[in-house]
Amino acid sequence: MTTTTDLRVLLVVGSVRDDRRGHLVADWVRDRLAEHGGLEVDVADLRDVTLPASLDGSGDTAAWRARIDAADAVVVVTPEYNHGYPGYLKTAIDSAYDEWRGKTVGFASYGGTAGGARAVEQLRPVFAEVHTHTVRDQVVLPNIWELIDDQGVLDASRAEAPAKAMLEQLVWWGTALRTARRADVAA
Ligand SMILES: Cc1cc2nc3c(=O)[nH]c(=O)nc-3n(C[C@H](O)[C@H](O)[C@H](O)COP(=O)(O)O)c2cc1C
Repeated sequence: MTTTTDLRVLLVVGSVRDDRRGHLVADWVRDRLAEHGGLEVDVADLRDVTLPASLDGSGDTAAWRARIDAADAVVVVTPEYNHGYPGYLKTAIDSAYDEWRGKTVGFASYGGTAGGARAVEQLRPVFAEVHTHTVRDQVVLPNIWELIDDQGVLDASRAEAPAKAMLEQLVWWGTALRTARRADVAA
């Protein structure tokens, strides 16, 4: 059950590849959010979010921007591709601007040896540019393929503690920034 005080979290699934592993990581993060309680979660799988690549304002981005607008906090699940993050994730970030403002963002990344940490290091300044705060702690899952069994089940239990830390910071900042945004509106 959600209440009016629940923090609204947008969980962005950043990988759109056909044979991706990202949905497993996103499901695991969604379960951590559910365990935390007091959160209303909107899962935004970018596979289901159609956005114009042109970024010239001509395409329809209204539905996507409304989902960001409704969120108090964001968790981005991202893989690492060639030491960066997916191109479509950048399109999703660039397709909004004011809607990001005053929100907080946490990360769960995965990949090879660096576990997506390099992708997140690139995402932090991008989110700063759209006036968001990013939380310090993050989920990092190196060699993601080793954590998935033959049945396709992900064991990310090693990341329980970082996930808890990331969520605690997300809730703290998300709540504080929501109060600040509401005070702005009331002023
Ligand atoms: C095009 C491509 C580039 C990649 N480059 C890196 C990389 O630079 N560093 C890394 O740790 N893993 C890299 N990987 C491995 C991915 O992080 C890993 O395959 C992960 O599962 C990709 O996420 P996805 O399956 O959700 O799309 C790369 C994978 C692809 C497909």
